Amino acid sequence: MTRILDGKAIAAELRAEIAEKTAILKQTRGIQPGIALLLVGENPASQVYVRSKAKACEELGFYSETLHKPADTSEEDVLAQVRAWNTDPHIHGILVQLPLPKHIDEMRVLLAIAPSKDVDGFHPENVGRLVAGLPGFVSCTPAGIMEIIKRSNIEMRGKHAVVVGRSNIVGKPMANLLYQKNPHANAIVTICHTAAADLAYYTKQADVLIAAVGVPEVITGEQVKDGVVVIDVGINRIVDASAPKGTRLVGDVHYESVAAKASAITPVPGGVGPMTIAMLMSNTYQSAAGEVY
Ligand code: GUN
Repeated sequence: MTRILDGKAIAAELRAEIAEKTAILKQTRGIQPGIALLLVGENPASQVYVRSKAKACEELGFYSETLHKPADTSEEDVLAQVRAWNTDPHIHGILVQLPLPKHIDEMRVLLAIAPSKDVDGFHPENVGRLVAGLPGFVSCTPAGIMEIIKRSNIEMRGKHAVVVGRSNIVGKPMANLLYQKNPHANAIVTICHTAAADLAYYTKQADVLIAAVGVPEVITGEQVKDGVVVIDVGINRIVDASAPKGTRLVGDVHYESVAAKASAITPVPGGVGPMTIAMLMSNTYQSAAGEVY
């Protein structure tokens, strides 16, 4: 029997815990976690994400403010806004939705965010803290995957974890979390990327496979071994004439053929996706409570 790792249920559990802790933080210390969301331009996916983040804040009793700026906003304007939030006592987390328009240097903007408010975990200070095994904010999607692993009691110690994808947001922090010497990690880690001539050579060796490629259904059942644990980070919309809307969401793994061999797998949707916002809320709560910096 293949175990379905229900990220939606785990995220709901986590959000309920944060809502409860938030109520206590307000009562005992008079602190309401606050997050500032900056969206530049009209990217439709980014608009959906930012709206979902603001809605999560409302549900959990957080303060939030969303600033939606036009696509031609200057880099200086963005930097000035970030700096204003850096010193705003109501704001414990600053989130600049990526991607930014091409005329804005993303790294300059990320570097301007105070590391202590960088709840996305993208500032090089927080990336460095992760690599060094120090407390800091960790990118929400990989942090959410670790939470799925932990709450599903998946043993990682000594296992061969293969991460497919080397993005700053998922692949790199994921690999760094998996090899850390702690009870829910301690894995042996391989990172694969586009230069791999034979991707299957690596994926077949995985005890735990993390697919963060961004290509629909690219990893198939023939490319994994029996009993593999599969974490599918992909969210891809594909055309499907038989689906009610004419399209449907799929992951980076071909679900049917991979699930047939896997001991456990995250579905798409309802797997990794819901964990990202839950971890953003968790990071912001921790920032407000002073648990990280
Ligand atoms: N764009 C895609 N994923 C993310 C994310 O996790 N945070 C931000 N800020 N932008 C993104």
